[in-house]
Amino acid sequence: MLPPHLARRLSGGGAITFAEYLDLALYDPQHGFYAAGGRAGVRGDFLTSPEVGPLFGALVARMLDQLWESLGRPDPFVVADVGAGPGTLARAVRVADPACAPALVYLLVERSASQRAMHAEHLPGWVGERHGEQLDQLARDPLGGGGPRFASAAALPRSLTGAVIANELLDNLPFEVVRLRGDAAEELVVVAADDGGLAAQATAAPAGVAEELARLGVPDGVWVPWPAEARRWLGQALVRVRRGAVVVFDYGAPTAELAGRPELGWLRTFRGHDRGGHPLDDPGGQDITADVAIDQLQLDHPADRVRSQARLLRDLGIDELVQDGRRVWGERAAAPDLEALRARSRVREAEALTDPEGLGAFVVLEWHVGL
Ligand SMILES: C[S@@+](CC[C@H](N)C(=O)[O-])C[C@H]1O[C@@H](n2cnc3c(N)ncnc32)[C@H](O)[C@@H]1O
Repeated sequence: MLPPHLARRLSGGGAITFAEYLDLALYDPQHGFYAAGGRAGVRGDFLTSPEVGPLFGALVARMLDQLWESLGRPDPFVVADVGAGPGTLARAVRVADPACAPALVYLLVERSASQRAMHAEHLPGWVGERHGEQLDQLARDPLGGGGPRFASAAALPRSLTGAVIANELLDNLPFEVVRLRGDAAEELVVVAADDGGLAAQATAAPAGVAEELARLGVPDGVWVPWPAEARRWLGQALVRVRRGAVVVFDYGAPTAELAGRPELGWLRTFRGHDRGGHPLDDPGGQDITADVAIDQLQLDHPADRVRSQARLLRDLGIDELVQDGRRVWGERAAAPDLEALRARSRVREAEALTDPEGLGAFVVLEWHVGL
């Protein structure tokens, strides 16, 4: 049986785009996957870099310090962590105690209210939820050395000097599914099936899609993701950064490469740390994501810098931190204290974060504004 919100939208033979379907399946405030408690983390549904342990946040803190310095140490220095999930990255950045902390306004921007409700936990300096003019004011008023301050929000402030960062957000934004058919393009829409479930149907894609797919070198007849929402999100983020950077971390590849993966290998579902089922089965009961088509993402705004996550973390000094961890563990392994255990864990975290078959292969794209 279809959940009521989908049944309503599809009644009387109606059809919705794949992106509309994803929006309902993932983010409906009552029945969506994220409203029902879906989340990143060891106790959640999938493991992300911040959830591997505190090392990722310590290195992001270094990256933020570099940006703060190159902007001339602005106050406030606003970091908007979009798709903040339960707030794990924010906690690790706070513990790392970056040099920018006295000027830092860290906004945990999260669409899901149930995850925003988790932000206060273990986050000293959290000042609550901020929306509208209150949020704009927080992003504007100097802290005079009183930072760091953390606040939750459902959207970005109108303007900020600092950074918009997003780890594994873009793969989770609703996307269309399209393919070339000769000179035309088709997209998938979702309809109610006779058996009471859902079915996908091909229909004509909006104008312009065929030309862009052809230009991207996508072979005829192969379904690929069309991340229109991620492109829109990037444009809006760039408009709001007065000076600073937008930095996104995600899994992705050029569209033609995604097209080469057998059986829609770029489309993934997750539930309780396992792969989930067919994306049209059990809407709201599983996460549905797509590898980010990084060439499409840059059609309107080419990135200023593109690196693998492993490369970025090496540039930020992960190897020295690991060496240091090995030394501390070597000295104290016989009678390990908390510091020794942390040092050993750092070595393991670094392996996971730079794994060329896993998180290390993630793409980090940066756009600079006034830098
Ligand atoms: C895959 S999770 C990543 C969580 C976290 N960044 C991490 O790396 O562990 C994606 C998160 O983005 C949130 N999200 C989706 N669309 C959003 C939007 N437009 N604005 C803010 N958050 C959004 C989801 O609710 C979800 O918590």
